[in-house]
Amino acid sequence: VARIVLPGEPLVDRPTALRPWRDSDRRAIAAACQDPEIARWTPVPVPYGLTDARAFLLQRYDAVHAGASAPFAIVATESGAVLGSIALNRPDWGHLRAEVGYWLAAQARGAGHATRAVRLISEWGFRALGLERIDLHAAVENEPSQRVAERAGFTREAVLRSFMTGRIGREDMVAYSLLATDPRP
Ligand SMILES: CC(C)(COP(=O)(O)OP(=O)(O)OC[C@H]1O[C@@H](n2cnc3c(N)ncnc32)[C@H](O)[C@@H]1OP(=O)(O)O)[C@@H](O)C(=O)NCCC(=O)NCCS
Repeated sequence: VARIVLPGEPLVDRPTALRPWRDSDRRAIAAACQDPEIARWTPVPVPYGLTDARAFLLQRYDAVHAGASAPFAIVATESGAVLGSIALNRPDWGHLRAEVGYWLAAQARGAGHATRAVRLISEWGFRALGLERIDLHAAVENEPSQRVAERAGFTREAVLRSFMTGRIGREDMVAYSLLATDPRP
């Protein structure tokens, strides 16, 4: 069931904003995805070119129409520069859950943009999509991503053994969740 309508206005928390992707973002996406850390922890093509960025955008537009993902560009509120990507993926409408995934361009790290983006998309998912639970899976060795989950108020629940096929083999993932009913700052 297609139930995803992205917001017309950006979601904003001080220096960090989320907005739907645009065709004109392809160069910024291709530049960011040259980074080995994004290649290490996410399933982006390697090597990554402008054609891959175009395919990324087309797949995202299709997924929104199919009700399969709610993808956003993370941008700087002031300059509008593209800082990264975040999405609510694999929505399960029967059980009102989805999974959050994200990356930041290397030069945008260390400033809290991912933490604010996870909080923004989670609040929107609860409010606009009616979700009751958001899952976040970070590889056991991906400490920066686990710190994002913890700063964003997610609860660490378990280690899921051999949960995904990663870039260099099977990955154990730390499972985190945030509930609509969890107390938040
Ligand atoms: C995971 C990833 C998004 C984390 O990026 P990040 O910049 O560390 O995360 P944030 O944007 O939340 O910034 C947090 C850092 O900024 C610092 N910071 C500065 N100001 C801050 C603020 N106002 N609020 C929060 N953190 C702030 C924090 O102390 C933290 O640094 P630390 O981890 O050294 O303690 C990034 O490493 C990445 O893109 N990795 C590759 C892709 C990836 O792994 N994706 C996740 C797959 S599960």
